[in-house]
Parts: sequence; C-alpha cells; structure tokens
Amino acid sequence: MLEGKTVILGVTGSIAAYKAVDIASQLSRAGVKVDVVMTEKATRFVSPLSFRAITGRSVTADMFDASSELNVTHIALARAADVVAIAPATANVIAKLATGIADDVLCCMVLATNAPVVIAPAMDANMYENPVTQENVSRLKKRGFVFVGPKFGKLVSGVEGLGRFANTVEIIGVISQVLGRGGSFADRHIVVTAGGTQEFIDPVRVITNRSSGKMGYALAEAARDRGAKVTLITGPTLLTRPVGVEAIDVCTAEEMLQAVRSAISGADVLVMAAAVADYRPRTKAKEKIKKEGAGLTLELERTPDILGEVKGDFIRVGFAAESENLVENATRKLRRKNLDLIVANDITAKGSGFGVDSNRVTIIGKDGKAESLPLLHKKEVADKVLDKVAKLLTERYKER
Ligand code: PMT
Repeated sequence: MLEGKTVILGVTGSIAAYKAVDIASQLSRAGVKVDVVMTEKATRFVSPLSFRAITGRSVTADMFDASSELNVTHIALARAADVVAIAPATANVIAKLATGIADDVLCCMVLATNAPVVIAPAMDANMYENPVTQENVSRLKKRGFVFVGPKFGKLVSGVEGLGRFANTVEIIGVISQVLGRGGSFADRHIVVTAGGTQEFIDPVRVITNRSSGKMGYALAEAARDRGAKVTLITGPTLLTRPVGVEAIDVCTAEEMLQAVRSAISGADVLVMAAAVADYRPRTKAKEKIKKEGAGLTLELERTPDILGEVKGDFIRVGFAAESENLVENATRKLRRKNLDLIVANDITAKGSGFGVDSNRVTIIGKDGKAESLPLLHKKEVADKVLDKVAKLLTERYKER
C-alpha cells in the first residue's frame, strides 16, 4: 500500500520533532517517497540534514529557497502528495491550519493540497485541552483532517496528561489506512481472528499454544490498507493493536466463538488465522490446584469448532498448521469445514509458523488447486492471501 506513494511529512517546532526522523526512516524503508517540509522552528530541534540523509531527498524549510529544484515549491509538493502527514503538529500550526493562515511553506502547502491530511499533535496537556485548541481540532476534523493521538502519558514538563505524540507504528498505520481508502476492499467488512486461545485449568494456569498473533495481525492490517472495515478478534498477545481496526479481546475458544458470531453478521469475509485450542479442561478449578500427588490427570473435552459452527453467506478462509502431509491434511480440513480457501501452514520449515515474522504457506482453493509460496514475511503472506480473497469477492459480486 505504501510502496511508490509520496508522503509529504510536515515537521513542526516540538520537542518531539526528533521522532519524525524515525517516521521518515520507516516510510522510506517501505518504499515511500518522503518529502519533508519543516517549519523554521522545527529546524531548531532537528537539522534538515538528518531528514535529507534518511530520505535521500531534498528537504524544504524555506518558501523562498532560490536553490530549490521545484517550480513554486509549496504548490509542487501539494500536487505531488498522496498524503500529507504533520507529525508532530504544534498547537500553533493546528491553529493556523484551522483558520487558513498561510505564512510559511508548510501551511501554504496544506492550503494548496487536495491530498488527505493526517495530523499527529504533540504539546503540553493544558495547551491541548485549551478550548481554543479543541475548537481548532474539531474544525479540522469536520473538514476531514485525520488525527492520530495525542496520547495520555508523561509529558516533557514532567506532568502527566493528554498531549504525548503518538508512536511511529500508529502514525504509519493511520497513513496506510488513509492511503487505502477507496481501495479494492472499500465497503467490505472482514473479520480476522488471531493469536492462540487460552483454556483455564484453574485461576492461574491455562492450556494454550505458541501463536503470537503476528499472522492474524498482518492480515488485519493488510485488509485495512485495502480499505476494508476490519474486526480483529484476538487471543491474548503481546502485539500492539493495529490502528484503524476494531479489536475485540477474547481469551477462550468459547469467547472467540461468541465474538465471531456477533461480528460476522453482515460481514463479507471470515479469516480464521487464530490457533484455537482444540481441547479444554472439562472443569475449571475454583482455587489454584495444589501440588499434592506426584502427577496430575486433567480430563479434557473438545472446544467448539468455530469454523464448523459459524454459518452464513460470507467467504470462509481457514488456516491449517501442519507438521506432516501439508497439502493432503489441509485439503481435508478445507472440505470438512466447508471453506473457500485454506492456507496450509508448514510449521516444520525453518522461519515458518508460530512466533516468527515469516511464514511458508500453500494456498489451496475449493477446486483443489494449490499454490506453494516461498518463505515470505507474514505481511507478504497476508497480501497473497488477500489477493485470492479479492478474486473470490469479485466473482461473488459479479454473480449478484
Ligand atoms: O500467530 P503466529 O505466531 O503468527 O502463528 C501463525 C499461525 C501458525 C498460528 C497461523 O499461521 C495458523 O496456522 N493458524 C491456524 C492454526 C490452527 O489452529 O490450525 P488447525 O489446523 O488446528 O485449525 C484449522 C482451522 O480451524 C484454523 O483456521 C482454525 O482457526 C480453525 N479452528 C480450529 C479449532 C477450533 N476449535 N475452531 C476453529 O475454527
């Protein structure tokens, strides 16, 4: 979604300006053309040279720079932008944008652009909560500016409050989401499950598995970046919830089933990437079980088969974590669970499966055709899976 796009990164005079270097760096690494526009005060916090070195592109800090290669700099930048992101944005710049003051290159460029504008404020909590700033923020929101943060936390002044700059992942997440608007999944609702479920033995012990949630989260983000409305039903994980996605936390297979049931009504696609426990203790001990005997026997019972239980008119995608006979076993699951697609996950391959960033999968369709993919980053796997889902959606809507 980001590759080949032009992001104009506006940097203003906040102590958080140095964090914009990381944003520029991560966007550049994702293949984005990042043109940085700085206010004069921002240059007091970070040198334009830092951004130039990171992006490999010229940095604009002066409206009247005679050496600029651009013809009328602010207009050229305004036209080139796929999205403008002002991060960090001070109260001053927010006020100027809200009232149309155009006394520097950044504000002129924003006034001249038709591209969507993302704003990540960073300031003292009292400044942010001041009714004047609040009025300016809501005026900009009404005009379609997209805000990310600020967050509650410790501020430079030492006090805690609402004013902290959002983190790089969140800001890039919102930029991706804005770029994805009107994408191939616009108006589609996709429900994704991720992570492992936990089944309680007693109040402190659980039966679970090694799923980190990375595969499911990558799918949720990739669907969001294609413009979909995404509901992510997630087992306990250490991952940060993706921005622009409705995340529902669950713990047990039963809770995941209930969450899928209520999210799926009216949805177009269900992707079950979660590693759902197949068995749970028949009873959960009320108190922590004491170490008494030399051993302990637990009686287990089956958990509900979520894919088996949830019925409806939506595209059904399952995953199959297999350690042997990958394609045969996965195809059997595809038929048994009446799926449109199954992603057979080779969990024996190095760098593939649980916990890692990459995955090696074979995608099998209802017609039995299998496409084996090499070891890829989970983000790339997510895109390959969604390419297939996109085809199924096109066929389905052609028929209607
Ligand atoms: O989370 P990561 O660390 O990134 O790891 C990713 C992954 C290995 C967990 C993921 O790629 C994966 O393979 N997920 C499915 C794991 C699994 O439970 O496979 P299964 O073969 O046991 O189940 C088949 C399908 O039925 C799955 O879509 C599963 O979500 C679903 N299922 C399973 C049990 C159950 N009670 N209800 C279900 O709906």
